[in-house]
Amino acid sequence: MNIDRRSFVKTAASLGVGSVLPFASDMATTAKEVLRIGFLGTGLRGQDHLAAILKRKDCRVVAICDIDPVMLGRTREIIKEHGASLPTIYDQSEEAWKDMLTREDLDAVIISTPWEWHVPMAIGALSEDLYVGLEVGGAFSLDECWELVRAEESSRGKLFFLENVCYRRDVMAIMNMVRDGLFGELIHLQGGYQHDLRAVKFNDGQQPYGGGVEFGEKGFSEARWRTPHSVHRNGELYPTHGLGPVAMMANIHRGNRMTHLTAMASKARGLHDYIVKHPQGGESHPNADVRFALGDVVTTMIHCQNGETILLQHDTSLPRPYSLGFRVQGTGGLWMDVNHSLHLEGRSEPHRWEDAAGWLERYDHPLWKKYAD
Ligand SMILES: NC(=O)c1ccc[n+]([C@@H]2O[C@H](COP(=O)([O-])OP(=O)(O)OC[C@H]3O[C@@H](n4cnc5c(N)ncnc54)[C@H](O)[C@@H]3O)[C@@H](O)[C@H]2O)c1
Repeated sequence: MNIDRRSFVKTAASLGVGSVLPFASDMATTAKEVLRIGFLGTGLRGQDHLAAILKRKDCRVVAICDIDPVMLGRTREIIKEHGASLPTIYDQSEEAWKDMLTREDLDAVIISTPWEWHVPMAIGALSEDLYVGLEVGGAFSLDECWELVRAEESSRGKLFFLENVCYRRDVMAIMNMVRDGLFGELIHLQGGYQHDLRAVKFNDGQQPYGGGVEFGEKGFSEARWRTPHSVHRNGELYPTHGLGPVAMMANIHRGNRMTHLTAMASKARGLHDYIVKHPQGGESHPNADVRFALGDVVTTMIHCQNGETILLQHDTSLPRPYSLGFRVQGTGGLWMDVNHSLHLEGRSEPHRWEDAAGWLERYDHPLWKKYAD
């Protein structure tokens, strides 16, 4: 990588914005170059990122690594639809990504593989001096967390964790309101991952491959690798969508820190119930005998050095509409996303919820104003 390219990419990285789109856009204003991107994993999430990148004139996709022929077929279609030339495909084995990372013509990679690959792939890419956009999930042990921290520090800031919820429009507006003191001193924050993941769906709503009844080797997309986590692990498996935003609001690592936590899991019934009631499942389906380890609702309470509490909930195996369950509460009032409402003492009617829409518009973040279109 030459000096120009380094400073070109650094300019964008220092902007620290949440999606790869503004990330690349600001780079384009500072240099007349094209960012050369490689993708590790082009499953359903990677395909979203790919389609977004292919819309840009200031980025070129030079390499793709995935090992699933169905996903690669969909990926090729997306590339064709955008009229882009086919990048080099690395699909020979689970380790093919290592070859891809040694390419001379790569500046950055976007990693959207299953969780177990995140740490090795991110560290591999950082050790090749590449910029890394890493999908959420990640480490499985404290040691792995530290490995990632050390690799990030020795790369001098080349790892960007793609925790998109930190950049959700309402979340950023609420963050602005927090910084402006509208909620007073923060006392308690909540968030989570509350998303019914029992079925596997394409973006068009179709349910292929047994709609989640089949998982592991016979499953498709997240049912292939994520549901097996629910078989073997019990805990808060996916904390960052809830934790990222509220940690920013609570100034974690900016004068505050999490000190301790306690967590509890409910019994696990949802996935079994889904399998036995599904038309492609039933009592005699082999997966009806699987005993799932993951409690249907896992609740974690975290204490912060400055006295705030954070409550996280992981809830992916029961029927429910999607909601990350945010609550931001201080001495001046609170916001909750599930009812799109807030209450601000002295501003809202006493003891009444107020529609948050007007406030969110007034406090819309400048990045959203600039890039929304
Ligand atoms: N930020 C978000 O809102 C969001 C949304 C969806 C998914 N995700 C995250 O994105 C990641 C991918 O999820 P997904 O839904 O796309 O899953 P997916 O199963 O659809 O895609 C994963 C892809 O990785 C490929 N893969 C597996 N092992 C590989 C290897 N060794 N080398 C190369 N490719 C490999 C698979 O073949 C598959 O195509 C996960 O970490 C998930 O948690 C984040």
